[in-house]
Amino acid sequence: MRIARIAPVNDAALGLFDSGVGGLTVVRAVQDLLPGEDVIYLGDTARLPYGSKSPETIRQFAAEDVDFLLGKGVKAIVVACNTATAHALPEFWKSCPVPIIGVIEPGVEAALANADADRIGIIATRGTISSHAYQHELATRKRGLMIHGIATPLLVPLIEENWISEDVTKEILRKYLEPLMAKGIDTLMLACTHYPLLIPLLTEILPPDVRLVDSATTCAEHLKRMLEEKDLLSGKSGEGKLEIYLTDLSEQFEELAKRFLRRPTGKVRRAVLNQDL
Ligand code: DGL
Repeated sequence: MRIARIAPVNDAALGLFDSGVGGLTVVRAVQDLLPGEDVIYLGDTARLPYGSKSPETIRQFAAEDVDFLLGKGVKAIVVACNTATAHALPEFWKSCPVPIIGVIEPGVEAALANADADRIGIIATRGTISSHAYQHELATRKRGLMIHGIATPLLVPLIEENWISEDVTKEILRKYLEPLMAKGIDTLMLACTHYPLLIPLLTEILPPDVRLVDSATTCAEHLKRMLEEKDLLSGKSGEGKLEIYLTDLSEQFEELAKRFLRRPTGKVRRAVLNQDL
């Protein structure tokens, strides 16, 4: 791993990465909570999806993403991808020269913020579900929970196609959610950066007493707390800048990026990973 800067400076940017553009939901939350911070975002669109890859490959890709951001001199990193958090974050805690957080702990914290949460359903990629990272984090924090995770691999491609209100997507969701409904879940964790875009459809399908939890807002709060604790908040006044890098640039990804960010993306640049390795 590249050692770019051991002592990060306050006015350096924050780095966030995801396998694609889904992590921009976290960027949006970070910009809302920390408007003065500069943000550099990397989406590994050339190698998306991570969710169906082996743990070794996910770890390798995630390490290259971290290296890219370190090369840009970021002061802290957010792994804004559930699959990469599940498989690679513990390793980064040992090796990364700047503070680094992921999306799982904040997501679990958000789910358990409601004291009534007892029967938790999780939907995520195959990689995230099979890592058991969410299940483990939940069980560690609260005893006696009923936890049921299911892999929902068809959802990312449907969202990427912008089929977020189509009947076919609704049917697929219904089918995926059947076993969770049968278990009587009271909370559904959207454990994938893409899934917040399905909230309108999920609200139609699920009984009104099932709480939907996504980690973007809590992740931004974690980040803020961490920056405060480490005295790393930016001292700059004015609105922070956003730079978006994608490893594969196409009109489709740029379009999608706007949808996830829900605000102008500015110029999207192409990232080349492993440049000096
Ligand atoms: N970003 C991934 C996640 O949050 C979903 C897309 C993928 O499979 O790469 O798990």
